[in-house]
Amino acid sequence: MHRQLLDLVVCPGCLPEERPLAAHIQETRQGDIYTATLTCPGCRKNYPIDHGMACLLPQSDLALVGKYTELPVVSAYLWSHFADLFDDPDQNTAYLSWSSMLNASSGVALDTGCAVGRLTFELARNAELAVGIDRSHAFIQTARLLTREGRLSFDLIMEGELTEHREVRLPHDWPLNRVEFVLADALALPFPKSVFQCSSSLNLLDKLPAPLKHLDELNRVTSDTRAQLLVADPWSWSTEIAPKTAWLGGVPSGSFAGHAHINVRHLLENKLLPAWKILDEGTIQWTIRNHRNHFERIHSDYLLAQR
Ligand SMILES: C[S@@+](CC[C@H](N)C(=O)[O-])C[C@H]1O[C@@H](n2cnc3c(N)ncnc32)[C@H](O)[C@@H]1O
Repeated sequence: MHRQLLDLVVCPGCLPEERPLAAHIQETRQGDIYTATLTCPGCRKNYPIDHGMACLLPQSDLALVGKYTELPVVSAYLWSHFADLFDDPDQNTAYLSWSSMLNASSGVALDTGCAVGRLTFELARNAELAVGIDRSHAFIQTARLLTREGRLSFDLIMEGELTEHREVRLPHDWPLNRVEFVLADALALPFPKSVFQCSSSLNLLDKLPAPLKHLDELNRVTSDTRAQLLVADPWSWSTEIAPKTAWLGGVPSGSFAGHAHINVRHLLENKLLPAWKILDEGTIQWTIRNHRNHFERIHSDYLLAQR
């Protein structure tokens, strides 16, 4: 883990109390923390850093199991995020479009639900440090491997069990020393108030059991001034993930009746303080590739806000 993060992390289990963690460092490699235990002086909970990866989940059993940890899904997300880097004919430019909206120059940037990290890498090109967080061990491990090696080979599914080899090579001018990926929960961000100049949540809100709590958390950790926030989502609400009462839209009545992009805009402008001003909004298409002949085209509404 990047040393700079040591000054930025707090105990996710003690929130809303923001308690800095004490580090017992056992091993460092090339200036980064490789093996350590971070301990909360309040609740005494320990958070491990193992092989450089910090696990800052409020409970260690919160690491995702299922869909976002399976190899075909990791492969599908590597394709979604990096297909332009290996010149795939079906590549899409969604992450470039989203990253071009944000500029974290001279600040620290946060990408929540970062998956295999494309937006985090893009944010690092302007930021002092870009931090990607996700609850999937497989995604964070993959993003960290890419950061360390600058390249990664994987098997892309063609049909059934048939795969083809692909290699992601990150461009040489990407500042990989300004990127960090940690295991953390978007509902209990292990950071203190106002540390990020720029924050993002792409395609995550509808995957959370408490989406409003995530917006509160994003609002808490993002700076009160000269800050940017990018929220994008296709609003694929499902009772398998969140009860209807927690949805931010997609229902005919209740506090979040109607469409979520309107309700989230209202929250940003009127409820989350200090209030956000919407700079831009629209829809961006992105693609999940399941195999050679099967692509899911997703339209995500985005809101770009500043304060
Ligand atoms: C639909 S994917 C979107 C990934 C990426 N932001 C993108 O747009 O390509 C949802 C991501 O959220 C992550 N996720 C789900 N629940 C989470 C939570 N509570 N905290 C952090 N990440 C979470 C998943 O592991 C997955 O990477």
